[in-house]
Amino acid sequence: MVAAAHAADVATGHMVVLKDVLVSFDGFKALDIKAFSVDCNELRVVIGPNGAGKTTLCDVISGKTRVTSGKVHFDGVDTTHLPDVEIARLGVGRKFQTPTVFDSLTVYENMELALPGRRNVWRNLIGSETTAQREQIFALLNRVNLLPDLNTPAKYLSHGQRQWLEISMLIVADPKLLLVDEPAAGLTDRETDLTAELLLELKAQHTLIVIEHDMDFVRRIGKRITVLNEGKVLADGTMDEVQKDPAVIEAYLGR
Ligand SMILES: Nc1ncnc2c1ncn2[C@@H]1O[C@H](COP(=O)(O)OP(=O)(O)OP(=O)(O)O)[C@@H](O)[C@H]1O
Ligand SMILES: [Mg+2]
Repeated sequence: MVAAAHAADVATGHMVVLKDVLVSFDGFKALDIKAFSVDCNELRVVIGPNGAGKTTLCDVISGKTRVTSGKVHFDGVDTTHLPDVEIARLGVGRKFQTPTVFDSLTVYENMELALPGRRNVWRNLIGSETTAQREQIFALLNRVNLLPDLNTPAKYLSHGQRQWLEISMLIVADPKLLLVDEPAAGLTDRETDLTAELLLELKAQHTLIVIEHDMDFVRRIGKRITVLNEGKVLADGTMDEVQKDPAVIEAYLGR
């Protein structure tokens, strides 16, 4: 059965598949999804009003929250009952709604920690990063204008800089799937522009699920959009398609 599911997912090119997923908190249905799938190298945007279940969807994919019933597959593997560390090891990376960088560490030290295989007890045995890794860190920090702040402790960064540092940390960890929760929240227009460019560049080598409220931002980055409302998929399609959907207008866009 497992082998068959694997073959089916690989054959259809899906990176993420959810089937009949229900997440219930004391009887409250936070997520109730019949079918949801994301292709390899797709950038899917998920929108929906507050409390729609967007973060819970990411929690289910990353294994932070267990489904009450249903199945979750990542890259052909049934991850429904796997611990979150195992799922991360399979290639699921996550950027949370609030940045989670280490305040007392410098920008460079945060990036070092994000390198694959760094956050474990063997860190001291692995030794220092390779020249290639160091060059990759410099290139990424240059892309997000953080090179001048290489040795600045993260606590002195602006909100936008912290968001970029965290996205850069996610990229250097090189996951197959990036779950990005509200990357444009609280950013200035110029900061939002750079964030949109970054996410579009990432699509070449990664699969992304981006949660966002800012509709201009969504229009710029999203080809296919999933609209959640009260835990359910309300609509799924291009920006034009979902914008015309009467149910979407009533639940979200018309407000
Ligand atoms: N651990 C939990 N226990 C109980 N209820 C929860 C839990 N996590 C989420 N919920 C509820 O599930 C619903 C969906 O929450 P979720 O955080 O996924 O929404 P969201 O779409 O990300 O909203 P926002 O736009 O505000 O970030 C909300 O009503 C929330 O209160
Ligand atoms: Mg949320």
